[in-house]
Amino acid sequence: MNKDLSLIKQRIEKLRAEIEEARYAYHVLDKNLIDEGALDSLKNELFQLEQAYPQFITPDSPTQRVGGKALDKFAKVVHDYPMISLYDAFSEEDMLAWEERNRAFFGGTLPDDYYVELKFDGLAISLRFESGLLVQGATRGDGQVGEDVTANIRTITSIPLRLRRPSEEALSLIGFSLTDIKELYNFIDHKVVEIRGEAIITKKSLAEINRRYAQAGRPLLANARNAVAGSIRQLDPKVTAERKLDFYTYDIWLPGLKRGELVRWRHQADQLVRLLGFKTAQHNKLCHGLSEVFAYYRQIEKIRESLPFEVDGIVVKYDDLKLWDVLGVVGKAPRYMMAYKFSAKQATTRLLDVRWQVGRTGVLTPTAILKPVKVGGVTISRATLHNFDEINRLSLKIGDTIIVERAGDVIPKIVGVLPKLRTGDERSIEPPKYCPFCGSVVQRVAGEVAYRCPNSDCYAVTLRRLRHWASQEAAGWDGFGPKIIEQLLDNGLIKDIVDFYDLTVDQLKILPGLGDKSANNLISIINRKKILPLNRLIYGLGIRQVGQETATTIANFLSTRLPNLSHNVSPEEIFTVGRAVTLEEWQSLPDVGPKVAEALFSWFHDDHNYDLMHRLSMRGVAANWENKVGVQSLSGKTFVLTGRLTSLTRAQAEARIKQAGGRVSSQVSRHIDYVVAGEDPGSKLTKAQNLGVKIINEAEFLALLA
Ligand code: IVH
Repeated sequence: MNKDLSLIKQRIEKLRAEIEEARYAYHVLDKNLIDEGALDSLKNELFQLEQAYPQFITPDSPTQRVGGKALDKFAKVVHDYPMISLYDAFSEEDMLAWEERNRAFFGGTLPDDYYVELKFDGLAISLRFESGLLVQGATRGDGQVGEDVTANIRTITSIPLRLRRPSEEALSLIGFSLTDIKELYNFIDHKVVEIRGEAIITKKSLAEINRRYAQAGRPLLANARNAVAGSIRQLDPKVTAERKLDFYTYDIWLPGLKRGELVRWRHQADQLVRLLGFKTAQHNKLCHGLSEVFAYYRQIEKIRESLPFEVDGIVVKYDDLKLWDVLGVVGKAPRYMMAYKFSAKQATTRLLDVRWQVGRTGVLTPTAILKPVKVGGVTISRATLHNFDEINRLSLKIGDTIIVERAGDVIPKIVGVLPKLRTGDERSIEPPKYCPFCGSVVQRVAGEVAYRCPNSDCYAVTLRRLRHWASQEAAGWDGFGPKIIEQLLDNGLIKDIVDFYDLTVDQLKILPGLGDKSANNLISIINRKKILPLNRLIYGLGIRQVGQETATTIANFLSTRLPNLSHNVSPEEIFTVGRAVTLEEWQSLPDVGPKVAEALFSWFHDDHNYDLMHRLSMRGVAANWENKVGVQSLSGKTFVLTGRLTSLTRAQAEARIKQAGGRVSSQVSRHIDYVVAGEDPGSKLTKAQNLGVKIINEAEFLALLA
């Protein structure tokens, strides 16, 4: 080679090295070494030189990223090392169960150092480097056979076209011995190295492409993952190049070696691939024990929205690579790593109904009742629709197939309809005429989108009733604070006290501020406290005028009429017995005046209340009466009443006897304990005298009751 030519070759090589340094600094070290314009001039100079001296073009030259012609189709690639899938976990329980399964499989305690990584939402790619040179990029395909997308992969500037050769010093700093380093150089210089990772598109690039597409009237790319898959599977690499894809590495495989040989730890592998010129997620972290993993998960979930790319969870991997072969693969995925996913965002399901909820200000909000569907591990059966205009905007009909979205902690919402899936049986949705709580005629305020219930008591009364039932003095549910009840009501999850018993963990855990643990806790409180003392159940019903003391009086009284209070009695039985009580009988109870008696009488004659008590019974709610209040002074004694009493009616007298634990009979016999003789007694008195049964007058009777 003459001197000039060798100078040109040198210049070309120096330009390439400079451009590679800038690429590496930008993608891997997150540093801008050189201004974009200046870098472009370097690239241009290189391009011009290569045009003039094509004999110096090499496949790893940065000018060769976009080159060649468009393909007719992709060639097939058989993966040397299958590209398997991952199992998904959605909760801490799932993760703990995974760890426990591995422990059982292994037959002993496993080290619990986990390398935890971001789970990118893009497309898995396998890169093959031979003697350091990128020779092939392939998609996952079915895991065994993928597609050769090398030409497109080369356009991704975060992928080096040649492996960098790290210094001995850098390698020893990340734990490689001199022998290891020699072997690594051998792999880089002479053997095959496989790199795996995720091709992604940043949120910004996707938005930019869609902005241009919108201007050009082209259909938009639905989401990042589709955008990547579509971009990589382009037959023309120029189109791929336009899409500005990125690549994050998550695995290195050295064919011929076992996992853990040479590269000992997963965290070390991450450091190594960076030295080889690849980008890894800076967030990746070595965690000791699952509790650290859980904290990491929560932290990433919090910053998820602010990340420049889409992540759909974290991947938890045993840091000790020797364990990988020990634990192996089961079914479609390995035991040695687990995807711990964030709540997925969208799913499709059917709209079954629309119900109207009334909020604190009286505004009616439509709630969509959905065919239950799992969105990111949580079953959803309701979604908010905001207002009637939203229904119109979505052109929503009952029966429609809809897209429901759940993002983080917010209540699920309907974000779209698939009208092409309509059958013709869908029904249109009418605006509400009456308030679902109080039945008032709904008003639409001029100039407002909202429909309102004009009855200011409506929501407040319902909320109070629900809080009352949950209170310490009634159902006694610790943890059901006023705020949670308000959220449940506002989100249409409860409307009356029976609805508490139909709540599920899945419904509760998506309320703001409630996680898996507290949701489970609340549901278990409800289930544990289904059997209540009778007085608390009566108090909890919120009957007008009935406070705690009156509730106890009523419980004492009703218990004498309930067949078997040593067993639990159902609300339905209580209602039946209560309905049979006459107005006078209610009035005869201590501290029960005409107003209270009237309230009780009408409560027990309202069919809505029967319905309520029936539904409570169906949920397994029941009462017992262990804490009887007051002494049962007449327990076991049987009375016969004859003649008129001056201070009590006959019904009142009977009620008082029963309340004190006694029984009333209409027939005089030897088994009767007392015959109470009032004014103008009848033949019963004579019979009692003949049988020698004890006869008492009104004053004696009152003394007994006292
Ligand atoms: S490990 C066993 N690590 O998630 C194959 N995969 O749901 C898993 N993914 O196909 C490779 N980020 O494309 C691994 N940090 C990460 C990942 C990751 C995203 C993708 C990968 C895989 C899919 C499985």
